[in-house]
Amino acid sequence: MAKKTVPNDSTEASLAVHWKEEEVYAPATSFIAQANLADPGVFDRFSEKNFPECYKEYADLLTWYKYWEKTLDTSNPPFWKWFVGGELNACYNCVDRHLAQNRNKAALHFVPEPEQEGIQHITYQELWVRVNEFAALLQDFCGLKRGDRVTLHLPMTAELPITMLACARLGVIHSQVFSGFSGQACGERVADSTSRVLITMDAYYRGGTLLDHKKGADLAYEKAQELKAPPEKVLVWQRYPGKYSSPTPMVKGRDVAVNEILPKYRGHRVEPERMKSTDTLFLMYTSGSTGKPKAIQHGTGGYLAYVTGTSKYIQDIHPEDVYWCMADIGWITGHSYIVYGPLALCASSVIYEGVPTYPDAGRPWRIAEELGVNIFHTSPTAIRALRRAGDDIPKKYNYHFKHMTTVGEPIEPEVWRWFHRVVGKGEAVVVDTWWQTETGGFLCSTVPALMSMKPGSAGPGLPGIYPVVYDDEGIELPAGAGKAGNICIRNPWPGLMQSIWGDPDRMVSTYFQRYCKNKNSKDWRDWPYFAGDGAVFAQDGYFRILGRIDDVINVAGHRLGTKELESAALTVEEVAEAAVVPVPDEVKGRVPELYVALKPGHKASPALAEKISKALVAHIGPIAKPKHVWIVPDMPKTRSGKIMRRVLAAISTGGITGDITTLANPDVVELIRKTVQG
Ligand code: PRX
Repeated sequence: MAKKTVPNDSTEASLAVHWKEEEVYAPATSFIAQANLADPGVFDRFSEKNFPECYKEYADLLTWYKYWEKTLDTSNPPFWKWFVGGELNACYNCVDRHLAQNRNKAALHFVPEPEQEGIQHITYQELWVRVNEFAALLQDFCGLKRGDRVTLHLPMTAELPITMLACARLGVIHSQVFSGFSGQACGERVADSTSRVLITMDAYYRGGTLLDHKKGADLAYEKAQELKAPPEKVLVWQRYPGKYSSPTPMVKGRDVAVNEILPKYRGHRVEPERMKSTDTLFLMYTSGSTGKPKAIQHGTGGYLAYVTGTSKYIQDIHPEDVYWCMADIGWITGHSYIVYGPLALCASSVIYEGVPTYPDAGRPWRIAEELGVNIFHTSPTAIRALRRAGDDIPKKYNYHFKHMTTVGEPIEPEVWRWFHRVVGKGEAVVVDTWWQTETGGFLCSTVPALMSMKPGSAGPGLPGIYPVVYDDEGIELPAGAGKAGNICIRNPWPGLMQSIWGDPDRMVSTYFQRYCKNKNSKDWRDWPYFAGDGAVFAQDGYFRILGRIDDVINVAGHRLGTKELESAALTVEEVAEAAVVPVPDEVKGRVPELYVALKPGHKASPALAEKISKALVAHIGPIAKPKHVWIVPDMPKTRSGKIMRRVLAAISTGGITGDITTLANPDVVELIRKTVQG
C-alpha cells in the first residue's frame, strides 16, 4: 500500500532539528478560572464512543434556519458531509445575530500601518450596514448570485472581511488570493475558479510605502484572458475612499471604483441566503507537489461550526475579549481565526495593515496597549523577527495577554520560551496549533486550561480529533516509539475540506490513498487523512511536528511548491533545468535555494542569477525570492534522469551527500560543492 516517501533527505522533516524532551509549563490559575473550557469531561464527551454526535456541541454554537437531520454522512468516502439537511448563513452568524445585544460593540479594529492615521473602530451595526450595501452592489451591479465565484486580491484592510461577508451573505463563493502574491498568480486562480468578478484595492501600505496594488489586477486580468477565462468586471476599492491612490490607470468599461458607485446603494439591505450546510463557502488556493496550486473547497455548516468551536475552546475567545491574530486574511489562518471564528463569537477582531516591525519592533505592543488586546495570535517567523529586536521592547508597554497562539511552522523551544517569558510576560498561556489549509481549523494543540504546555510540541489531538503516526509500511508507531513517521488523522471532522475545486480525484489521491485500508469501505475508520507532515509521537501523547515530507517548502509559514518555483525559473530563456531545496533560515524558518543548469551557449553571471531570482518573484510573489541562485554546470542525476534534490540539499546545508556512486554523473557533485561552498 505505502510507497516510500519518508525520509527523503531533501524534505523539511529531514532538516528538522532533533529536539530533546522539553520541560513543561502549567497554565496560570487566573487563566483557568475564566476559561471557556475547564471541564475535563470534554475528553470523554469527544471520545470515539461519542463520535460523530459530539460535534453537535460545536454546531449548537451557531444559529440555524433549519436544524440538520444527519450529523455525518459517510455514504461517499472520503467526501464526508456534515450536518446534512441543515440550513444557515455564515454572514448572518457573524454579523446579524449579534445586533440585538451588541450592535454598538466593535467588531473590527482596523489599524493602518501609518501610525498617524489612527485606528478605525467598526461596530457590529456599522459592519452590518457596510456588508449589506456592498452585497447589494454585488447583486445588482455585478449580477452575482448563489454559487458564482469571485476572486479577491485584497490587502489587510477592513474592506477584505466586508467583501468576504458580503459574498457569504449572497451565497457567492469567495476565493481570496494573498495580496503579496503576484498579479500573474492571481490571474491563474481567477481562471481556475472561473471567477466572474475580480475585487482588488488601488493601494496599501507595507513597510512605509504606499504600494501600487492595482497594477496587479491588470496583470491578473491579462493572465486570466490568456487562459481564456477573464472576469467580467474588476472592482477596485479605494484605500482612501473618494481618492484614487494608484498610478496605474483604471481601464474604461472593465474597472469600476467601488467607492464611486457604493453611494447608490446607501440604505440597501439584502436578506441573507438560506444556504445548505454542505454548500461551499469559499475556496483557498494552496501549494502541493505539482506545479499547479489547488483550490481547497470549504463548506458552510461544518466549517463554520468547527472554527467557531475551536475559537471558543482553544483560542478561549469570550465576547468581551479583544483578539488580535497578526496573520494575513489571505491565508487560511486569517479566514478561520480573524474573520469567521472570532466574529461568529461576537469578539472584537484586530486587522493590522502592515509589517509587524514597522516603524520599529515596538509597534505590535503599542497596538496591544492602545486597544487592550488580551489574546494574541502569530507565527514563529514574526516571533523570531521580534526576538531579534531584544527583550527590552515588550517590557516598555503596558499590555497584558491572557492567551497567545503560535501557528504555521515548527517553533524552536528557545523561541517558544522567549515568546512565553518576554511577550507573554510569563502570564499568558501559549497554544501551538498545528493544522493546514485543508483542515479548516486546528488539529493538534493543548486545551489551554486543561493541559501543560511543552515548548516545540503542538500537543495531542483536539477533543474529537484522533491523530495517529504511521511508518512507511502503514504500521502504527505508538507513543514513545522515538521514531518519526507520517502524521494522519483517523477520523473525519467538520472543518475538513469538502473537495478540491474541479479536481475531486486529487483530494482522494493526495490525502486518502496513501493509508486507505479498503477502497470500497464506507466506514470512516478505513480512511485516515494523510497530512503530509513528519511527526514524532511522544510518551506523554504530545505530537512534535517536524515539517513537510513532500515537495512543499514552508517559507515563513507560507506554503510554496518546489515545482511552482522550478516552473517559474524555467520561464527564463537561458535556463535548461532547475531544482529547488529548502534551507534553514534564522527568521523565516525555511527559505528556498535554487539550482539551475543553463542551455548550451549561455554563461553564468551575477546578472543572470538576478534575472532568474526576479522571475520567481514576478510569477509567485516576493515570498518566493530564493536565498541564492546557484548556476551549476549540470544537475546530479540518477541513471533514469531524475534530479537528485537530496544531494543538492546536503550541499546547501553543509550536510553529508551520502552515496552518490549510483548517479549518472557523480563527478558533478564535487563541482557543485565548490561553487556553493567555495
Ligand atoms: O507543515 C505544517 C505547517 O504548515 C503546513 C500547513 O500550511 P498551510 O496550509 O499554509 O496552513 C498554515 C496555517 C495552519 C503544515 O502541513 N504547520 C502548521 N502549523 C504548524 C506547522 N508546523 C509545525 N507546527 C505548527 N503549529
